[in-house]
Amino acid sequence: MVSEKDFIQNNYTISVEGGNFEWSAPSNIALVKYWGKKDNQIPANPSISFTLNNCKTITKMAFTKKENNGHFSFDLLFEGQPKEDFKPKIQKFFERIFDYCPYLKDFHFTIDTQNTFPHSSGIASSASGMAALAMNIMSMEKLLNPTISEDYFNKKASFLARLGSGSACRSVKGSVVVWGNHTEIPESSDLFGVEFPSTIHENFRNYQDTILLVDKGEKQVSSTVGHDLMFGHPFAEQRFSQAHHNLSAIKNVLERGDVEQFIKIVESEALTLHAMMMTSMPYFILMKPNTLEIINKIWKFRSETQTPVCFTLDAGANVHVLYPENVKEQVLQFIKNELIGYCQNGQYICDEIGKGAVNRN
Ligand code: DP6
Repeated sequence: MVSEKDFIQNNYTISVEGGNFEWSAPSNIALVKYWGKKDNQIPANPSISFTLNNCKTITKMAFTKKENNGHFSFDLLFEGQPKEDFKPKIQKFFERIFDYCPYLKDFHFTIDTQNTFPHSSGIASSASGMAALAMNIMSMEKLLNPTISEDYFNKKASFLARLGSGSACRSVKGSVVVWGNHTEIPESSDLFGVEFPSTIHENFRNYQDTILLVDKGEKQVSSTVGHDLMFGHPFAEQRFSQAHHNLSAIKNVLERGDVEQFIKIVESEALTLHAMMMTSMPYFILMKPNTLEIINKIWKFRSETQTPVCFTLDAGANVHVLYPENVKEQVLQFIKNELIGYCQNGQYICDEIGKGAVNRN
């Protein structure tokens, strides 16, 4: 089994004066949700997600050799402009990964990042952002130690991304990714995401995700605080065991192409996530009235037309509308006719399953 020690790099030479890399990494949407964690970003339960294709972060990382004075040194740019408020997050990330990447203090970094989705759209950029940064760091590590394998590269990238933001570890490689130990997923690990090992039924190929932007405001409760509230939560143990069960069930569903069961599991997971928030102490609600309006409209449309469309939610008010590619036209028409009125400024983003991070050098 791979352990944390395997990711400590001590076989490198500071052989270069500098360099630069550029990676894009996508966002992902969880089907079985990660909610609750232990120390060091270890998830309380396993999760599984679809990797997205269009919502992504593009990050350039330039580095030049500096004297190792025991400090991290970096400039942070957002769309080419200095962005001081992002710096503490990156500083914390560097601190967390330093034991595994001891070469970080030998260089000065310029990190320039941009998203393909509107800033403050309420779409979490931490998953795509941390994954894109982790890929750049691994490109640098490969420069300093060219012997590392592609498998190690991807596993460690996911491992590092996880230390930045848990769900980011599912944004490295593969269309469907599992993170967290699960008895039926042979290589699964709490330390990094792995590609779903079975062949996915064609019903789920090019699955569509239209993201309805219901509320673009700052969330009242961050994911990090929300995860912490699962400590001592009265339903925590039940919830964690349900996630194991749902992951077994969805594994089967993805293999067999059972869209009907898929809908049941995915919608139940979304509502359970929010039920955990509502039953935390202190309790909180991230859904908005329009989130519920949309859910009810989807249920009505589904029962009237038998179109296999469903929703999921992440830690916010936005709604992800999931459906097979072969009903795309009907669903987009339905969204335009009946749902965009509930979106802030009528905004929504059309996305679909993607493959993971891409090297843009
Ligand atoms: C509801 O990965 O954002 O989207 O590890 O604290 O950065 P941190 O949390 P984060 O939590 C995501 C929670 C979720 C469910 C999921 O993506 O599995």
